[in-house]
Amino acid sequence: MSRAVVLGGTGLIGRAISRRLLAGGWDVVVVGRDSTRMPADVTVAGGRFVAADRAEPGGLAAALGAGADLVVDCLCFTAAHARELLPLLDDVGSTVMISSKAVYVDAAGNHVNSAVPPAFDGPIRESQPTMTPREDIDFRARDGYGANKVAAEQVLLDSGYRVTVLRPSKVHGEGATKPCEWVFVKRVADRREVLFLANGGRGVDHPSAAANIAALIETAAENPGRRVLNCADPDVPDALDISRTVAKYLGHRWEEVLLDDHAPAGLGLHPWDRLPGIRLDMSAAGRLGYRPVGDYATTVIAELDWLVSSDRLPAGFDHDYFAPMFDYAAEDTYLAER
Ligand SMILES: NC(=O)c1ccc[n+]([C@@H]2O[C@H](COP(=O)([O-])OP(=O)(O)OC[C@H]3O[C@@H](n4cnc5c(N)ncnc54)[C@H](OP(=O)(O)O)[C@@H]3O)[C@@H](O)[C@H]2O)c1
Repeated sequence: MSRAVVLGGTGLIGRAISRRLLAGGWDVVVVGRDSTRMPADVTVAGGRFVAADRAEPGGLAAALGAGADLVVDCLCFTAAHARELLPLLDDVGSTVMISSKAVYVDAAGNHVNSAVPPAFDGPIRESQPTMTPREDIDFRARDGYGANKVAAEQVLLDSGYRVTVLRPSKVHGEGATKPCEWVFVKRVADRREVLFLANGGRGVDHPSAAANIAALIETAAENPGRRVLNCADPDVPDALDISRTVAKYLGHRWEEVLLDDHAPAGLGLHPWDRLPGIRLDMSAAGRLGYRPVGDYATTVIAELDWLVSSDRLPAGFDHDYFAPMFDYAAEDTYLAER
């Protein structure tokens, strides 16, 4: 039986890959700090939780044990994290490091976290220039996330080990601490009869289903090598498409108020408001043999079912991120005055 170790395996991407590998007959070790975050179905399917802190000396070695056919690192944010992994990779068949599309820069050097939004001139390929690698800035800082990810990628890719770097976009799935679709799910739960969308809902920020990421990780594990791959859904819905997918699935109807540039600032905010849009080119993954589990509308159901069936929001839910998207008082004022 093949053995996989998933660092950060209780999180959004980690639990999806754990489920996928367990269903494929793998022995899966799920590494996290808090056993209460271990999904019950992953335990039932045979996943073994190992408590270890990646930041503690010896934590990684303890988690890896006698080696593995596959290590998936969902917790590699810096070059230092990557270097900590290297001494353990002699006994690992294939390693997958989860990076991010946040590494890409446009012709002017802008990226998804810069003050000026990036303007890519089409679907982004893996050959697109990236941020300059940096280790002198906190990876939790706005300018630090992508730069530290690039530095981590380079350490692993230069190591000589068989490392696949995956660059997902906006991830959706069960267990998300920032489930973007909440902006519409809560609105349905609140029985709002109107939906406001900034920029006419034309914004695009390519979704990446955790289940599709898991499928690509399995493909990479079957083809050990050294490479970088984008990872996003096979289709690219805009915010209006996404709102309609969610409303249709939840059986809700609302009046769409598609705002233009003259609308009051702060109305119709949503997580996909990127113009020009962000699209990842998925042809390299396809050439490796990757087949997605499904399109956005098919795969987002996992997150929607989870959100509507949960009696409370997940631990770590990012309330501050969503709060400005639910300014119902401002919306009602706008409607009364129009
Ligand atoms: N989510 C996205 O939209 C997105 C987009 C692009 C790239 N990515 C990348 O994808 C990777 C995974 O993201 P995710 O969204 O799946 O993360 P997540 O949902 O926050 O999951 C992270 C998991 O790791 C565990 N963990 C955190 N710190 C740990 C530590 N020091 N030692 C051991 N376990 C630890 C957490 O559980 P405990 O706290 O209980 O330990 C949690 O279950 C990240 O590298 C991120 O940069 C994410």
